[in-house]
Amino acid sequence: MDRNKVVCRCFNVTAGAIEDAVKSGAKTFEAVQAKTSCSTGCGCCKPDVIELINQLTK
Ligand code: FES
Repeated sequence: MDRNKVVCRCFNVTAGAIEDAVKSGAKTFEAVQAKTSCSTGCGCCKPDVIELINQLTK
């Protein structure tokens, strides 16, 4: 995984930031949203964020 890849452009949230959020206990899309603000803007990154969370939690 490229930790520097920006997943959410609206809030400049990287894959690494999402990984850290999941590792620190945010196991759902809503929890990751609350922790990183990702996907709280236009929402177009939602499928990518969910996909990433699924990968990280399986
Ligand atoms: S790109 Fe994530 S909310 Fe817009």
